[in-house]
Amino acid sequence: MPILKHALAFSLVLFFLQQTLFAQEEEKQPRDSCVWCHLENEEEPEEPAHAMQEDIHAENGLSCVDCHGGDAGLGFDEDEEAAMDPAKGYIGAPEKKDIPRFCARCHSDPGYMRRFNPRVATDQYDRYKTSVHGQLLLRGDEKVAACTDCHGAHGVLSFKDPRSPVYALNIPATCGKCHADREYMAGYRVAKDVVEEYKKGVHGITLLEKGDQAAPACNDCHGNHGAVPPGIPAIGFVCGQCHLNNSELFAESPHKQAFAEEELPECETCHDNHAIEHPTDAMLGTGEESICMDCHEEGSDGYRIAEVLYAKIDSLKLRLSAADSLLQVARKAGMEVSEPLYQLNEANQFLIQGRTMIHSLSEGKVDSLTARGIGLAIEAYEQGLQAIDELQFRRKGLAVSLVFILLLALGLYLKIREIDSRTVFREEEVRV
Ligand code: HEC
Ligand code: HEC
Ligand code: HEC
Ligand code: HEC
Ligand code: HEC
Ligand code: HEC
Ligand code: HEC
Ligand code: HEC
Ligand code: HEC
Repeated sequence: MPILKHALAFSLVLFFLQQTLFAQEEEKQPRDSCVWCHLENEEEPEEPAHAMQEDIHAENGLSCVDCHGGDAGLGFDEDEEAAMDPAKGYIGAPEKKDIPRFCARCHSDPGYMRRFNPRVATDQYDRYKTSVHGQLLLRGDEKVAACTDCHGAHGVLSFKDPRSPVYALNIPATCGKCHADREYMAGYRVAKDVVEEYKKGVHGITLLEKGDQAAPACNDCHGNHGAVPPGIPAIGFVCGQCHLNNSELFAESPHKQAFAEEELPECETCHDNHAIEHPTDAMLGTGEESICMDCHEEGSDGYRIAEVLYAKIDSLKLRLSAADSLLQVARKAGMEVSEPLYQLNEANQFLIQGRTMIHSLSEGKVDSLTARGIGLAIEAYEQGLQAIDELQFRRKGLAVSLVFILLLALGLYLKIREIDSRTVFREEEVRV
């Protein structure tokens, strides 16, 4: 019965084909009914189920139910109530005031979190509760930032991901959603230009325009979850984490105690907090731009030191620029001056260190640096002078040898003429 055999084989093939096709069909559908139904019903890519397709929680195997509860195995028959049943643990979407606790359920549980990442921090909620944001939320102010205002709820990314709203370069804009919005912040006494000011300052320019992440974003001074203006005693510490030398020198200076007594913040008093400008020498001294003059009157010790420190820095700066101009002239004329130029570079290091040292307010300490710089600058200047002398000597030498060559050429010319006239004479003789 060959026909029967063929028919059997054929139906077997059909059966397996159908099986694999069916299996593939099933494979395409998410096994999670929450995702399945929500993907079907959501239009916009930023809506939860779409946004969750790229999310650190999903990457770690978590899904809707881990946050919202419910039963992801029910509801494939489009019965949403079966899946989103409070009896199955469904808690729905949290209200704003409940969000920190909602996230903290996992993030404050070290036992749970370490299953995913043994070195994960679990202090976010504790810190958040101490912040101005956390305190106000607790009192029912829902305009402050909760976890989702900074991280999002669906599509949460690691802070190391450049697309994350809390990636260093994006933080000023994330805080700026509220802090740069005058209308939104209108009811609060807090300054409304903090983001603008920050962007104008050296840190904002270094981070946002140069992309240099060594410069602090908002959270480096305010904490990731602390969000408080650093207290008066803490400010020097905050700045000192990166500007260690300035901070140590300040601590040794008479300003340390004086500022503490008057409750003046260490660095901010002279540099501001957000719109920090590139400091100039004119901030010292007794001129218009001097900040020392804000507090020290003529005749006082502070006044005198301000004048002296300025003079020392300025004198080194002038020596440096004089030596540099001279050496550049020599270099352009082709003289070998790399040695003194290198020395000048070294002298310049003393200028940089001197500008840091002014924070000690110590005439002697600043002098020990500027004096060494001046010494090097003078040596370099003298080598520049020598190079110029040598250049002039070579030029004089060139003139002498030119005259000599000209004389030689003239002599040769006369000689040739004399030989020529003799030959002509002889030819005439022959013709005769
Ligand atoms: C069969 C379709 C379907 C299934 C299955 C389903 N949902 Fe929903 N879900 C909806 C629809 C439609 C809405 C919007 C209307 C509403 O709020 O009931 C919704 C709303 C929600 C909301 C917002 C509620 C609010 O208070 O705004 C959350 C959260 C949610 N679903 C989570 C889940 C979770 C978790 C699961 C799986 C356990 C799930 N859904 C399963 C259809 C579904
Ligand atoms: C990390 C926890 C977390 C996970 C995982 C999560 N959600 Fe949410 N979801 C939230 C929070 C918090 C809110 C409320 C805040 C908000 O609306 O942004 C919310 C709100 C919602 C809402 C109502 C508001 C809105 O944005 O439309 C829906 C619907 C929703 N989630 C569905 C889902 C679905 C479906 C999944 C799985 C694909 C999911 N969520 C996974 C935390 C989560
Ligand atoms: C005001 C904005 C803001 C709020 C509110 C906020 N975060 Fe963060 N979060 C950040 C910033 C900024 C970072 C870190 C970026 C970095 O380290 O460079 C961060 C980092 C994290 C990290 C990574 C690990 C770590 O601690 O550095 C986790 C987890 C986290 N936040 C969870 C939460 C939770 C949970 C809440 C709510 C209780 C919350 N965040 C509230 C801004 C915020
Ligand atoms: C069901 C438990 C759970 C809940 C609820 C939860 N998370 Fe997570 N979250 C995790 C796990 C697990 C990770 C991955 C840990 C890791 O890899 O470091 C994670 C990672 C994160 C990260 C990335 C940390 C990093 O490395 O930068 C952020 C940010 C984050 N969660 C924010 C939130 C926010 C905001 C909420 C509330 C809306 C929330 N989480 C709710 C479990 C949870
Ligand atoms: C969802 C809006 C929102 C976001 C996002 C936000 N904040 Fe706030 N923030 C507020 C509100 C509202 C206040 C309350 C103002 C007040 O203190 O009276 C506040 C208060 C503060 C304060 C306390 C100011 C004071 O002296 O009272 C600091 C500091 C602060 N935020 C820093 C930050 C930083 C840093 C970020 C980003 C990492 C950020 N905020 C993100 C809304 C926000
Ligand atoms: C270099 C450190 C530093 C950085 C970076 C920084 N801040 Fe501040 N911020 C401070 C200090 C210090 C104060 C305290 C001001 C005071 O008490 O006089 C402050 C004060 C504030 C205040 C309260 C202002 C007021 O007058 O009431 C807010 C809000 C604030 N910062 C938000 C931000 C935001 C948003 C960013 C990022 C765009 C940011 N800060 C970046 C150091 C910093
Ligand atoms: C996270 C590290 C960090 C913190 C915190 C920090 N800074 Fe800076 N600061 C930098 C970097 C990086 C630069 C730019 C590079 C440079 O020229 O030094 C810079 C530049 C400066 C400059 C300009 C230097 C120059 O020569 O132009 C001043 C002044 C300054 N910071 C003061 C402060 C003060 C005041 C604070 C505290 C309120 C502070 N910084 C906090 C890293 C930091
Ligand atoms: C009494 C005013 C005053 C205080 C307080 C002060 N500075 Fe300065 N700072 C200056 C002056 C003036 C200059 C410019 C010196 C120059 O260029 O000749 C300067 C320059 C700087 C520079 C650039 C030069 C360098 O060292 O790289 C940095 C950075 C700096 N200060 C950081 C700080 C930090 C951090 C603090 C707090 C620990 C602080 N300053 C406290 C007055 C002050
Ligand atoms: C915010 C005010 C303020 C600013 C700005 C300031 N000082 Fe002072 N300074 C003080 C106070 C207060 C003392 C304590 C002794 C006093 O009252 O003169 C002091 C003390 C001193 C002393 C020690 C004097 C003594 O009698 O022992 C010197 C030196 C000094 N300042 C130099 C400077 C220099 C240089 C600058 C500019 C870079 C400067 N100060 C900027 C407030 C300030």
